[in-house]
Amino acid sequence: MTSELYNVAEEVKSHRQAEHDVQPIFLNRWSPRAFSPEPIAEELLWSVFEAARWAPSSNNEQPWRFLVARSEADRKRFLEFLFPGNQVWAQHAPVLVVVVAKKTFSHNGNPNPVATFDCGCAWGYLALQALHNGLITHGMAGFDRDAARAALNVPQDYDPVAVLAIGRHGDKALLPEAVQQREVPSGRRPAAESVMEGGFQPPAEASAEADTQNTESQQEKQSP
Ligand SMILES: Cc1cc2nc3c(=O)[nH]c(=O)nc-3n(C[C@H](O)[C@H](O)[C@H](O)COP(=O)(O)O)c2cc1C
Repeated sequence: MTSELYNVAEEVKSHRQAEHDVQPIFLNRWSPRAFSPEPIAEELLWSVFEAARWAPSSNNEQPWRFLVARSEADRKRFLEFLFPGNQVWAQHAPVLVVVVAKKTFSHNGNPNPVATFDCGCAWGYLALQALHNGLITHGMAGFDRDAARAALNVPQDYDPVAVLAIGRHGDKALLPEAVQQREVPSGRRPAAESVMEGGFQPPAEASAEADTQNTESQQEKQSP
């Protein structure tokens, strides 16, 4: 493990402060858009999927599947179903991954209502292992799901959930000016606004809008 993972990184410190004791890796993971096109060693990549493998899931179904693009031809095919706002930066990432969820339980064919929840957990594990391996990750909801299904032959029993870009942090000068300006770790609303004791509480008057300005929903129309 590289030692900086034990401390909040310099580039992160001025943007993120924990309110409670937490491992620095959670603050250090953020979603840059400046990818270096250099290829990622096979073993480093398998390591991030190994981390995802050990995520918990309902009935141990492991509903996640990871469809990977590394060759130029495959990355071109994957890029085609990304929304333009994502293509502009994701084109430089050496690895693109479509996370696909199996929608039914394998043991009885019943719908699995938590398939995407479990995929989200697997992606979280993957992202933290990637950081540990010196890599950056960036999740994307901004893509055409039908086009992805068709291009990648995803069966009806599975749904494309999200696209991931994986690589090394690169030079943001390669990005358009507007994207460069977003190349900073985002903040968060206070934990106390997400945690409700005893039942659902009405939202407080002032939500921490300033802390959520850097979300994809406000940046551009990326979700279906
Ligand atoms: C499932 C998911 C979908 C996302 N979709 C997009 C996207 O389409 N485009 C984009 O630029 N960022 C996208 N993001 C990145 C989020 O905007 C980012 O995670 C959020 O603002 C928090 O910032 P951080 O990851 O740097 O901590 C996505 C993140 C997740 C987890």
